[in-house]
Amino acid sequence: MNYRHAFHAGNFADCMKHALLRAALAALQRKEKPIFVLDSHAGAGSYDLGAAAARRGGEWQHGIALLQAGAAPPALAPYLDLVARLGLYPGSPRLIQAMLRPGDRLACCELHPEEAAALRRLFAGASGVSVHHRCGWEALGALLPPPERRGLVLIDPPFEARDEFARLQAGLETAYRRFSNGVLLGWYPIKHGAPIRAFHAGLRASRGLRDVAACELHLRAPLDPARLNGCGMIVVNPPFGFKAEAGAILAALADRLAPGAPDAGCAVIDLVDE
Ligand SMILES: C[S@@+](CC[C@H](N)C(=O)[O-])C[C@H]1O[C@@H](n2cnc3c(N)ncnc32)[C@H](O)[C@@H]1O
Repeated sequence: MNYRHAFHAGNFADCMKHALLRAALAALQRKEKPIFVLDSHAGAGSYDLGAAAARRGGEWQHGIALLQAGAAPPALAPYLDLVARLGLYPGSPRLIQAMLRPGDRLACCELHPEEAAALRRLFAGASGVSVHHRCGWEALGALLPPPERRGLVLIDPPFEARDEFARLQAGLETAYRRFSNGVLLGWYPIKHGAPIRAFHAGLRASRGLRDVAACELHLRAPLDPARLNGCGMIVVNPPFGFKAEAGAILAALADRLAPGAPDAGCAVIDLVDE
C-alpha cells in the first residue's frame, strides 16, 4: 500500500468528488429520516495543504486554490462554504461527518494503519461516527444493509491495482445486492479513453445494477495514459434532482479549472435505466 492521499488532497479530482458527494448527501437529507453513510476507502480525513506532502506535488494549487480564487460560482458555493468552514482541507469522512444530523451515522473503513490511526484521532469522541481499520471491499458485504435502510456508500479506491475498474464494478454490484435503494458513488480516474469505454460497457452489461449514471469532468483529451486527464463518479440511484445539480457543478468546475481549454468539458451520462 504505497498510496497516501496527503500528496493529492485538494486536487481537481478531490474537488469534483467532494462537491458531488456533498450534493448527493444534501439531496438525501431533504427527507428527515436518518441516514447511514459508508465511506469504504476513507483516507486520513483531513489534510494540511501547507505540510510537506501536499507542498511536494502542489496538486491542490490546480484544484481547490483555483476554486477559492475569486467569487464562488453558485453551483460550487455550498461545497466551498463547507470547505472554508472546516479549516484544514476536508477529506470525504470529514465532509460527511460535518453534514451528519442527530441520528445519522457514518462508518469509515481504511486499511493503511497510519491513515486509520489519524482518522481515529480526528473522530475521537465524535458522535455517530465509527472508524474501522479493515478492508473496504470486504466491508461492503459486512456493513450493508444498514438498519436505517436509507443512505449512501462512497467507494473511492486508490487505483493502484491493475484490476481496480473491475473491482469497482464488483464493489458496486455487491453494495447494490445488499442495499438496493442506497445511493452508491464510485470514483474513477480518466487517463486514457479505452479503459473508460470498457468500464462503461461493463456497467451497462451488469446483470444487477439499475439506475446508473456516470458524472465526468475532463480537463484535457484522454490521450495520455500517464496523466490524470479527468475523473468520473458512478452514481447508482441518483437522488431526485441530483443529475441536474451534478451537471451544473461539473460545468462550473470545468470552467474554473480549465478555462478556455479546447478539450475540457463535462458530461452526465445515463448508463443503465431505472
Ligand atoms: C483515494 S484515497 C481516499 C480518499 C478519501 N476518500 C477522500 O476523499 O478524502 C484511497 C484510500 O484507500 C485506502 N485503501 C487502499 N486499499 C484499501 C482497502 N482495501 N480498504 C480500505 N482502504 C483502502 C488507502 O490507504 C487510501 O487512504
